Amino acid sequence: MRLPTHLAIIMDGNGRWAEQRGKSRSHGHIKGTRVAKTIIQECSRKGIKYLTLYAFSTENWLRPKSEVSILMKILKKYLKKETSNLIKENIRFETIGDRTQLPSDVAEAIDHSQKATAQCTGMKLIFALSYGSRQEITSAIRDMAELVEKGLLRSQDISAETVSAFLQTRETPDPDLILRTSGEKRLSNFLLWQAAYSEFCFSAKLWPEFTKEDLTLVLQDYGLRERRFGQVKSMENHEQLTH
Ligand code: IPE
Ligand code: IPE
Ligand code: MG
Repeated sequence: MRLPTHLAIIMDGNGRWAEQRGKSRSHGHIKGTRVAKTIIQECSRKGIKYLTLYAFSTENWLRPKSEVSILMKILKKYLKKETSNLIKENIRFETIGDRTQLPSDVAEAIDHSQKATAQCTGMKLIFALSYGSRQEITSAIRDMAELVEKGLLRSQDISAETVSAFLQTRETPDPDLILRTSGEKRLSNFLLWQAAYSEFCFSAKLWPEFTKEDLTLVLQDYGLRERRFGQVKSMENHEQLTH
């Protein structure tokens, strides 16, 4: 089966899952973290090379302080507990997003996990944390403008490849497949530039109830898709269509 080289997931629906059970939203985030752990391991075992997980958006800072603080605590705990397992699974951990906005203890935990897994050669796991695609693109434009001002970059040399090279995702191929759970069908400021030719998959399941089996179904669906990148299918099919 053809696998996506890079799978990106918008893990959505933690709050609704908890509310349906009369529990606090943080309960949903805790269960969601457990599901993330299972899906990370499964993706690595299936041979996916890059997995990006949308864990916290720029706009999520606008949630009630108590929820933000619980999410940060959960994240720190996850990193403390799981880094050794990541090493065991040969998974390299990285993040994208504005690290300067994160509480210093969380930033330190990220730093530690990143350094501890830097030598791992298996799947690259990227957490999008305090991430917003518009902010990422804006910052890339600012960096390019600065080089132009200094005479180090000529505006006529700026190509789509140049832009990609100024984004935080510069070392990761564009996502082949973007999955969003919870029935919502939007990107919510996630990988806007990088999604130009991504396939999309929307699951009605809330993230805390998403399973390994659901992942297999999503990957099977992807395997059947034909990606054309604006071109014609293949010469053979093209001839069949025109004769
Ligand atoms: C996704 O679940 C997790 C984060 C955004 C941190 P939500 O918290 O958005 O859950 P819903 O969408 O309100 O159900
Ligand atoms: C997107 O989900 C961000 C994450 C999953 C981390 P949101 O729940 O924040 O997005 P909206 O508000 O429904 O668009
Ligand atoms: Mg949501």
